[in-house]
Amino acid sequence: MDFTPISGACGAEVSGIDLERELTPERVEALQAGLGEYGVLVFRGQRVSPEGHLAMGEAFGGVNINRFFKAVDGWPGIAEVRKEPEQKVNIGGEWHTDHTYDVEPALGSILVARELPPFGGDTLFSSMYAAYDALSDGLKAMLSGMKAVHSSRHVFGTGAYYLTDGSDLAGRYGNREAATQDAVHPVVIRHPVSGRPSLYVNRGFTIRFDGWTVEESRPLLQMLYEHGSRPEFTCRVRFEPGTVVFWDNRATWHCALNDYAGHRRLMHRVTVEGAPLPAWRLEAERAAA
Ligand code: SIN
Repeated sequence: MDFTPISGACGAEVSGIDLERELTPERVEALQAGLGEYGVLVFRGQRVSPEGHLAMGEAFGGVNINRFFKAVDGWPGIAEVRKEPEQKVNIGGEWHTDHTYDVEPALGSILVARELPPFGGDTLFSSMYAAYDALSDGLKAMLSGMKAVHSSRHVFGTGAYYLTDGSDLAGRYGNREAATQDAVHPVVIRHPVSGRPSLYVNRGFTIRFDGWTVEESRPLLQMLYEHGSRPEFTCRVRFEPGTVVFWDNRATWHCALNDYAGHRRLMHRVTVEGAPLPAWRLEAERAAA
């Protein structure tokens, strides 16, 4: 297999593998390392069946069944990311990281393009390694001792914003009563594969810093959200028939562009189980410990 970077910060196209037929343990290991390094792996020209899609999820750590997305008919392990021509709002149209409201947040997701609009519908990714690295030493030192609270309630719960803001997501999201997850994670994690520091707050699910009020947290979170989406930390994936994208939630944010009004975009998503995330500790903290 070859990994060809698609931007200076994150993302690589992977050639030399047929995902449906050639996912050997050696290749899984090499892809895990590549995912830890690049954060986003893009495969072209694939023909992945629903069985193959789920097998890929199993090979990388197990399939995490999404509680809130409509599943593909007959395939409860595969979530549907759909936008119909008459629908206005798309799923995942703001910068976020999936499932950070879980105590053991999902490792990543594998997105298979099923029906694409004639133009648009690209997905942006941003490297949280690059975002962390570009912070000042002072802010790095402060954030490395902090934790943040994440929740599913405001996004998917009975008081979710999509129920009252005029959005048309209601048929695509459901199971509102199950949105009771809250989790506390380090603000800077040590990536389990690469060992690199990665910024782990996101606009979708982080609600405040642990021990701070929402109001106190807002300005610093806002600064981090603006910082984290700087263009030089990002890559942009254009989908073609046969494109499969595997992203790492511990190293990246993503944002699905909503620029194909009047057309259908249908993707199938398998989410891969993760594990609790360790905090990044600065050299000085490590030396003192
Ligand atoms: C998502 O999982 O947030 C959606 C990604 C996409 O549709 O590109």
